Parts: sequence; structure tokens; C-alpha cells
Amino acid sequence: MRVTVPANFPKDVLVTLPDNSQLPESEQHFLIFLPWSDEYLDLIPKDFRSFYSEILPLLSARTTDVHTAVCMQYLNEFIAKAESTGKNVNRNVLAYALMLHDSGWSQMTEQEIAYSLGVLGLRITNKALAPKEKHAILGEQNARRILTEKQDELGLTNSEIELICKAILFHDKPEAVAGAGNEMPTEVQLLVDLDHVWSFTHLNFWQDTIRKGVIPIEYLENLRNDLDSYFVTDIGKNKAKELLAEREKEVKNAT
Ligand SMILES: [Fe+2]
Ligand SMILES: [Fe+2]
Repeated sequence: MRVTVPANFPKDVLVTLPDNSQLPESEQHFLIFLPWSDEYLDLIPKDFRSFYSEILPLLSARTTDVHTAVCMQYLNEFIAKAESTGKNVNRNVLAYALMLHDSGWSQMTEQEIAYSLGVLGLRITNKALAPKEKHAILGEQNARRILTEKQDELGLTNSEIELICKAILFHDKPEAVAGAGNEMPTEVQLLVDLDHVWSFTHLNFWQDTIRKGVIPIEYLENLRNDLDSYFVTDIGKNKAKELLAEREKEVKNAT
């Protein structure tokens, strides 16, 4: 079902509602999503596209398929920036962690998904906390199962799989990851930030104004205020600031 959007809503953000939701009408906006198209595969570095196509059924809920593909476009950029500051990054670990980090949503109810989105900024509220915790635990279990089954084919070591699982468990805990400092592997830090730039992208910024029921100018303000605590690395913070400036221009042009 197509969604009625405000007159100034960007024409290229095609948001849709599931046809058979059981939620009351007042809560259905939480379930708005961007339908998948194979064109999003082009955003994923070539060497990971066939794996991504295989796990797509696990990414169907909560716009996870589009979200993860959009974030994968920044994989190489984030790694290059981290390496330019002398850090070593295991590209396979970061890529598999990013591709699988939100696979848990596909096993959760639409009520849990609705609660997880009932936040007006980026800070997680108590109501959103339980489903957020649960999706990370389920995602970790999915990753462990899939990557263990395909371990030889993908050429991953046991310790790489462990690191992927750890990154997935921590991906929604920027404060814990930042607080651990250098004790937290770079791949875990970069996963948090690659995931979180999604909020600042064209597609999700506008989708979230409808999904969370917040007006664009207010959502901009919320993102601006929460930015520093939402990211772990300067790479993530700088990317978010760059994307935020683009959204500020779009909101200005739309008003
Ligand atoms: Fe997540
Ligand atoms: Fe995510």
C-alpha cells in the first residue's frame, strides 16, 4: 500500500506500508518501509554481492535490506580512512558483520518493530530497549549459524567469526563501545558507525520523518543534538556531519 506523504516529500523516496498489518491504524506508520530493488545491489562492493543476495530473505523486515546495502557503500571508504590513521581493519569481518547485523528483525513481530522505532531522535528509550536488545541477540545467532555453515566457502577463521558475532552484539551500543576505547576492536567500532550513518542518509532521513511521525526541521535538530553520542569514531562523526549538511539543504529547499 502506498503511503500518503506531505507535498514537500522527496519524489524519489518511495515509502510503502505492508498490506496485511495487524497493528492499530494509529501505529501503522512505524511499519513504513522502502521496498527492495535489485538496483541497491550496485551499492555493495562486488565481492560481497552474491553473499548478500543469498541472505536477502533474512533482511526483509524493517527496511533492513535497503538499509544494509546503503551502508555497505561506505565500507571501503571507512576502512581506507581508518587505515590512513594507522589502524588495521579486517575487511571480511567488517563486511559480514554489517551485512548480517540486523538479520534478527526478520524473526520479530511487527509490534516489536513498532516499539523499536518509537523514538524521536537517536537515543533509545525504555520501550525501544527490549526489541533493540533482542534483534542484536538474534542477529548474532543468525551470523554464527550462517557463517559456521559457510566457513570454508567464505574462508573465515574461528576467531574472525567470533569477532563478527561480538560486533553484531554491540552494534547498537555506541556508549559501551566508545567507553571501552582501544580495548574494543576497530571492526566493532566501525560497525557501529557504518550502521548509524543510515539515519543521516537521504533515504532514511525522509523515511523516518514519516515512520517516526516527526517534522523534518525537528528531526534535523534531534539528529544534530544526538550526533556525538551516536558515533564512536571521528570517521563516523565526520561522515554524519557531511550527510547532515546535505539533509539541511534538502529541508531548506523543501520549506
Ligand atoms: Fe540494528
Ligand atoms: Fe542497522
